[in-house]
Amino acid sequence: MSTTEFTHRYLPAPDGQKTQRTLLLLHGTGGDENDLIDLGRAIDPDAAILSPRGRVLENGAPRFFRRLAEGVFDEADVIARAHELAGFIKSAVTEYEIDPVHLVAVGYSNGANIAAAMMLLGVADLPRAILLRAMVPLAKVDLKPALKTTVLMAEGQFDPIANPDNGRQLAEMLRATGATVDLIFQPAGHELTGNDVMAARRWLAS
Ligand code: MLT
Repeated sequence: MSTTEFTHRYLPAPDGQKTQRTLLLLHGTGGDENDLIDLGRAIDPDAAILSPRGRVLENGAPRFFRRLAEGVFDEADVIARAHELAGFIKSAVTEYEIDPVHLVAVGYSNGANIAAAMMLLGVADLPRAILLRAMVPLAKVDLKPALKTTVLMAEGQFDPIANPDNGRQLAEMLRATGATVDLIFQPAGHELTGNDVMAARRWLAS
């Protein structure tokens, strides 16, 4: 896998910043590599940014894996795409000299779901992840407790897509792999709010 397989942006840390942190931004359905840059900058203005575009198109809308209907995922595709994205991350770490110890995944909606899939499958080494409005991406997965990942999950209390019970179930699955998960609920729906940015900033600084 080479980094050219994914359309993406890599933005080094802003001038003069000595940060080692890189945010891996994973957009939602219909987004692209530009979508979450402002969110990433709001979460950590000093970090470098790696932002790939999902390779699946749903009626022209980029995604990170195929779905059969709203909330019904093509699990074989989820697995294949999780491996593919993990391969991209590995290549990008080498090409851009990213410090993998300070890599933080920041995924929203479909992007949070592919990040969760990579963690549940154990295919990508993501030391920290911020999952915004995530869902269980794989119903059947052989969980091996090997993850050292720490995860912030921010779900929406009134989210009709990623409903709170589904979020709780994902948190339990991640914990079963060994991850440490902070699960919080915002008084919001599927959309992101300023509270999400504040919660992510606080969590990263902790
Ligand atoms: C998904 O398809 O990953 C979730 O339903 C979230 C979305 O992208 O709408």
